[in-house]
Amino acid sequence: MSEELKVRKIKDGTVIDHIKAGKGKKVLDILGMEDGSSSVTALLMNVTSGRVEKKDIVKIENKTLGKEEVDKIALIAPHATYNVIKDFEVINKSKIELPDAIEGILKCPNPKCVTNMNEPVKTKFKVEEKEPVKLRCNYCERLINLKDVL
Ligand code: CTP
Ligand code: ZN
Repeated sequence: MSEELKVRKIKDGTVIDHIKAGKGKKVLDILGMEDGSSSVTALLMNVTSGRVEKKDIVKIENKTLGKEEVDKIALIAPHATYNVIKDFEVINKSKIELPDAIEGILKCPNPKCVTNMNEPVKTKFKVEEKEPVKLRCNYCERLINLKDVL
């Protein structure tokens, strides 16, 4: 990474590393970091990281992620790394992996699906394939196009 563009280490917060180049902006979207957020946030794009190809990195101060946020990121940035930073140290590092099912965070695009009725049922999608990701609604069995739900 060119020295002048290097973003300093953060004290406390989250670093999502090894995001496939070009997907970092989408990660910010997913985390709702665009408007109304007060966290200091950095998006590094097209970082060359020695061995592998280019990657994006997202750094967010004073924020940790919940399971639903991590699952959502997994949909668009499989193999990214989730680092929790405390007092400048990486205190937890985990590889972001798609679970076998995604519950509650996506809306089924089928208007007739039971999950879109008046008494809403929590959505559940089975992950049929991971790369490229293929999701199927557990209730109406519709095959979901990621672009329609994210
Ligand atoms: N990082 C940061 N602030 C800190 C500590 C780490 O911004 N206080 C960033 C690093 O710049 C890196 C990521 O968090 O992008 C992970 O840090 P680290 O585990 O130290 O780096 P690597 O060993 O290179 O990570 P990996 O093995 O996952 O590639
Ligand atoms: Zn459905």
